[in-house]
Amino acid sequence: MQVKKSYTESDKTTLYNGNIEIAATPYTKVKFGKYNAIGPGCQFVSINHDYVFPGLQYTMYIEMFGDDHPGVKLNTKKHNPGGIEVGSGCWFGNGVFVCAGVKIGNGTVIGAHSVVTKNTRPHSIMVGNPAKEIKRRYTDEMVVFLESDEGR
Ligand SMILES: CC(C)(COP(=O)(O)OP(=O)(O)OC[C@H]1O[C@@H](n2cnc3c(N)ncnc32)[C@H](O)[C@@H]1OP(=O)(O)O)[C@@H](O)C(=O)NCCC(=O)NCCS
Repeated sequence: MQVKKSYTESDKTTLYNGNIEIAATPYTKVKFGKYNAIGPGCQFVSINHDYVFPGLQYTMYIEMFGDDHPGVKLNTKKHNPGGIEVGSGCWFGNGVFVCAGVKIGNGTVIGAHSVVTKNTRPHSIMVGNPAKEIKRRYTDEMVVFLESDEGR
């Protein structure tokens, strides 16, 4: 369990129960909006090993070549698909895993133990591995209103 607060941004209204994992780097931040609820065991992991290269492990390159992993220098997508952005008013059930590069839309509800590999639409309900949208919390018109300046 590792929480690197320096790379995590939250306005502190987000609540979490029990242990959660936030894996961030200087290149891949994990950002949270307001008033999210996060169940125990959730993981926000913005780090992938770059499987394009034969050696996945960073220390091997440093030990053998005295240099960083080539994926770091080339900044390839597989190495660094990006940070994670969580909107506001989302609810994460117990044990949700959010993959690198994913943006969670405002008001998204994510079912327990889901693995979120793609961006979510605002106010959607996502479940499964990989997580799929099963429904929306409100009508499309309502979502448009909630996402407008007036509705926020
Ligand atoms: C598997 C992984 C490396 C991505 O590999 P990738 O080749 O970039 O895969 P893509 O993002 O192109 O996804 C391909 C498909 O697999 C699905 N997928 C990706 N990762 C998945 C996962 N962990 N579980 C279930 N499905 C997954 C995607 O939804 C996509 O589905 P689709 O074909 O229906 O659209 C990444 O998603 C992952 O799980 N990384 C592990 C992160 C981690 O635990 N890091 C800890 C630090 S060591």
